[in-house]
Amino acid sequence: MTHIYQKNESIIRIIITGFLNTTDIIAAINKGHIYQFIVKPWEIVQMRMVLSQATYTWKLKKENNELQKELLTQNYLLTQANKRLHTSKQTLRNLSISLFTAREEEQRRIAMELHDELGQSLAALKMQTRIMEHDFLPAEKAQQEKIKSWSTVLRSSISQIIEDVRLLSKNLSPVIIEDLGLDAALQQLIDNFTQAHGISCSFQPAPLQDITSADGKRIVYRLVQETLNNICNHAEATHIHFPIKVDQEKIFLSLADDGKGFHVQEVLARPQSRRGIGLTAMSERVKMLGGKIDIQSIINKGTTVSFTIPVDFDRKKKE
Ligand SMILES: Nc1ncnc2c1ncn2[C@@H]1O[C@H](COP(=O)(O)OP(=O)(O)OP(=O)(O)O)[C@@H](O)[C@H]1O
Ligand SMILES: [Mg+2]
Repeated sequence: MTHIYQKNESIIRIIITGFLNTTDIIAAINKGHIYQFIVKPWEIVQMRMVLSQATYTWKLKKENNELQKELLTQNYLLTQANKRLHTSKQTLRNLSISLFTAREEEQRRIAMELHDELGQSLAALKMQTRIMEHDFLPAEKAQQEKIKSWSTVLRSSISQIIEDVRLLSKNLSPVIIEDLGLDAALQQLIDNFTQAHGISCSFQPAPLQDITSADGKRIVYRLVQETLNNICNHAEATHIHFPIKVDQEKIFLSLADDGKGFHVQEVLARPQSRRGIGLTAMSERVKMLGGKIDIQSIINKGTTVSFTIPVDFDRKKKE
């Protein structure tokens, strides 16, 4: 019986015996895993019942085995699918980062073109108006005055366009991040913002040198920039509280305005075609850094947008 059990445990084993030696019976049960012991003389009815139960048990065991095999296969397939999903997610994240980098590169190129080409051409145009003014000096007094006043108007329009181009170029590519670092770039962003919109801001900077990658710095800058844009476009706020906290694992930035607030869930539930791209772009960018965004808003009290970003972003990016 032990031999049969070891060869194929699914076989149902029944012993029909006339001997009742307890030692043998215990050995058969323990080693041979006997299903039933029938002591002679046996009844045909009893035998039929035992056999039908044994057949039923065997069928159940067989089905159970097949189900377990199926479960193992399904588990294996699920693990494989999960692995593929993880790889796809990683690829998608890397793609988003490459796309972001490519877009930033392109914007930087356009910013430089604007600054170097258009800026220089406009400066040259401004000089030409002076030359024109000079060339017309021998003209009659009345004409001279006219030319002078037109020339002044023209020069001030050109100066305004130069200033616009400079601002546009600066916004397209915050070169200041590379020149002065993220802390100084954020400080300048806030200074320009408060000056332009008359909204005060209590900015509490913290050393951000832990963000070492150029992408990381630019993303953080863009997050703050977009949050400020939303405040000046929608919040009707008078003040912003903007602390930055850094510990060994994460950087925490939070911008709290005292504006009119909005229904966050309602806005996020709108189809993409019926809302702006600011909040979506922000959460995509935070995801690229492996971080989290949280928006809390109370009507007539204000909105707080917080970002938690892991400092080991560079390591995560390589994984
Ligand atoms: N600080 C805020 N105060 C009040 N409402 C806000 C604030 N930030 C966002 N909102 C609301 O959330 C909406 C969605 O913002 P989101 O930045 O996604 O789009 P948008 O600013 O309308 O357009 P876009 O950013 O594309 O120029 C806004 O239209 C506004 O109603
Ligand atoms: Mg916006």
